[in-house]
Parts: sequence; structure tokens; C-alpha cells
Amino acid sequence: MSIQPEKLPPTLADTSPLANGIALTRDPLAFFTRLQHEIGDFAHYVLSDRVVYFVNDVRLVREILITHESRFAKWAFNESFRAIFGKGLIGSHGDLHSQMRKIAHPPMQPSRLGRYVEIIVELTHKRLEGWREGQIDLSREMTLLTLEVIARALFSVPLGARAETILQATETLLRLNTKLGGAAEDVAAFEKANQTIADIAQEVIDEAKSAPEDGGLLPTLLAAHREGLISAEQLREEVRTFVLAGHVTTAQSLACAFWLVAQQPDAQKRIREEVEAVLGGKSPRLEDIPRLSFCEAVMLETIRLYPPVWVFGREALVDVQLDGFKLTAGRELVICPWMLHRNPKIFPEPESFKPERWENGARTRLPRGSYLPFSTGARNCLGEHFAMMESILVLASVVQEWKFRELPERPDPGWTPQLLYWPRRGIRLDLARSGEGPAQIRP
Ligand code: HEM
Repeated sequence: MSIQPEKLPPTLADTSPLANGIALTRDPLAFFTRLQHEIGDFAHYVLSDRVVYFVNDVRLVREILITHESRFAKWAFNESFRAIFGKGLIGSHGDLHSQMRKIAHPPMQPSRLGRYVEIIVELTHKRLEGWREGQIDLSREMTLLTLEVIARALFSVPLGARAETILQATETLLRLNTKLGGAAEDVAAFEKANQTIADIAQEVIDEAKSAPEDGGLLPTLLAAHREGLISAEQLREEVRTFVLAGHVTTAQSLACAFWLVAQQPDAQKRIREEVEAVLGGKSPRLEDIPRLSFCEAVMLETIRLYPPVWVFGREALVDVQLDGFKLTAGRELVICPWMLHRNPKIFPEPESFKPERWENGARTRLPRGSYLPFSTGARNCLGEHFAMMESILVLASVVQEWKFRELPERPDPGWTPQLLYWPRRGIRLDLARSGEGPAQIRP
């Protein structure tokens, strides 16, 4: 196929760079939905300072994320992306990224994660000890839990009261992340929150120096630092990245799963039946995870409809040929999992929450690139296996003890697509004890 120089894929007819900018800021998902409905799965839009490709075609997504992966850098679709992720694994590219990925990959592999099962279950039970019947903010609870899990499992250091400080700082980052060019006090609050997390990352590193070398993530990074492979600054960037990436996504998807099953008592009943059949009143162990397949389906369906990473951006480092068009070096593109996950040809009745669509290994039969909660290719989520294992264990452990109902006023979580797709008002539900009490859960 010959390359057509400078020819762009189609765009909306009756619009302007200014109107596009306003529409994108106000409601990016409505803007992308309009692009997709009116133009299709490969389009472009013009902003005042740039041209952006919109790619929603599964074959082209594969070309970008797999075939031509090394020809793209991350693009800060959200302007706070660089400030938050800096030069850590999420924000870096090229040689720095490859070197860091080589070091951080082995401790995150499924074969190395089994030893964290006990920690996750123990910390979940500890968190549940404080729960009482009545109203509860699941976003907050899951955030504090996943933070302590990441710290104890991957850093070998407990966070204690610092979890609450990180929760507050992360909320500030999420709330103010589109306001970096805004009011001075917002910018100052954002920078302070970012610095707070960096300071705690440094404390964690200092404390982990005396922890046993157990092949976990932070001990592995520390060993690489001692061998001179990673600078002290890079080490802090990576720990900062793992603190953030490792908790907020998992926490919000767990809270979201509880919210969705509170609206669907049948799904909640099915989880409970599976948990009773598989665990029989005992705490989950590593070998139980593959048998908790409905719990897994609930999580896969939750992050299909509410993918925390709802969009990613890429910038072409060199000219790239895409469907006969030349994507010139420097051009940017967006891929939006939130949109891809609503393709009715791949996910019939896309707006419905249907965990059963994931039964019998359905995920393995999907076209590659059509389901991207964890992205794909060489830059897929390094924490995917950890996140899925943790989510299944927490979901099963919680449902053993508690039932969820919507509150009578059905508070709106305020789903907002910014740096993440997140519930800015939190997820509040009504909690009641399930048949089994905590006393019945046996180790
Ligand atoms: C439900 C939970 C999670 C979701 C939905 C999620 C999603 C993602 C996505 C979509 C990316 C790629 C972003 C892009 O290409 O721009 C990513 C990257 C990453 N995630 Fe996750 N993540 C989750 C949990 C975790 C956890 C628990 C960890 C760590 C323990 C983690 C660590 C990372 C890292 C280090 C990267 C960068 C990988 C690279 O570029 O080489 N994530 N994640």
C-alpha cells in the first residue's frame, strides 16, 4: 500500500479547533462518541495547537500498541500525566523504559505472586474488622486496603498512618489534575500533593534497605541500585509510580464492582454461591483462585464498563504508516478503552453489566486489542496479574462476610474521565452482614 503524504483521516464537518477544545474539555467521552458515530473508527480532530488522530479500530490499535510500539512515546493526553508519572515506568520510553522494565518484570510475574495471597487475605480481614452495618464509603475503604497491600507485598514495608496521607494526596492529584494552568492555589496544592507522595516513596525506600532481600519488587529494585544499574532518583521515580499505579486503579475497580453488584442482587447472589462452594467458609488460598471464576468475571466486566485507564495517548517518534496514511513524526493519537469496550459487535448489549459474558474463558477468544483495561503489547500493565489476583481475593473475602445494597437516595458516584475514570464523589453503599459472620471464616 502506498503512503499518502500529509493526508489525514476524515474529521467532523461542522466544527472548529476552538469548538473541539471546548467539547473535549467539557465531556471528552461525548466528543469521542460523536466522532465515532459521525466519522467512524479512524478519524482526526484539530485543536488550536495540534492535530490528533482518534483510533478506535481494533486492527489499527494492534498496529500501534504491538507492531509499531517502539515508534511511539507516551503522550500526555492529560496535562498532569508527566508531573505525576515523571520518568518512572509509566511515563518513560526508549532505552530507559526497556532497562527498567527488564528489572521490574520478573518480580511481577504470576509465578512469583503466589506468596502474596496470605498478605492480601490477612490485610482484607483486618480492614473488615472495622466495618459495621450501615453506610460505608467503599472508595475510601478499598483505597486504604490496596495501599497497605502494595506496601506490604511489593515494598516489604508497612505504611500505617501514611496510607491516609497518600489517600488525601492522591485525591488532590485526581481532583486538580486538569487545572495545572489554573489558579495559583490549585497548582500549589497539586505540587504539594505530588511532593508528599515522593517524600513517602523516599521513606519507604530508606526503610526497605533493612528489609530481607526476598525477591520482591522493591528489594529487586534496591539490588539493581546497589549494582549501579539504577540511580537514586530513578529508584524514587519507580517507587512513586508503583505507589500510585499500584493502588488507585485496583481500589476504584473493586469499589465499582461492589457498586455494580449492589444494583444486581442476582450477580451478588452468584458470587456468594461460588464463594461458599469453593471456599466452604475458609479463607481463600492460591489454589482457589482459578475456581473463583465468577468473581474473576465480575472484575473483568467491571473494568470493561468502567476502565480506570479510560484513554491513553501516543506520540509518533518517527513517521509511521497507518492504514495507508502517513502519521508524521510528532503527531499524536488517542486510543480510548472506554469506547472500544462498547463495540456492540464484540460486546453485545455493551451498556449492560453482564459478568456471564466472560464465562468459559471468553477473554482468550476476543480479538487482540479489543479489550484493553490493561493495554496490550510491550507496554501493557506490569501489575495486571497482581491486580487481578488481589481483586479476586478481596471480592471473595468481602462477600463471605458482607452484603451490599444501594442506599435509598442512590448517591451518584460522579464518574469523571480525567487522569483516570474515577468516582469523584466516592462510592457509598449500605452494608449488611451476610449469613456468615467473621467468626465463621476459618484460615
Ligand atoms: C485494575 C487495576 C489496574 C488497571 C486497570 C491498570 C491499567 C494499566 C494500563 C491501561 C496501563 C498502560 C497505560 C498506557 O499504555 O498508557 C498500565 C501500565 C502500568 N501499570 Fe497498571 N493497572 C492496574 C493495576 C496496576 C497495579 C496493581 C500495578 C502495580 C503493582 C500497576 C503497574 C503498572 C505499571 C508499572 C505500568 C507501566 C508499564 C509500562 O509502561 O511498562 N498497575 N496499567
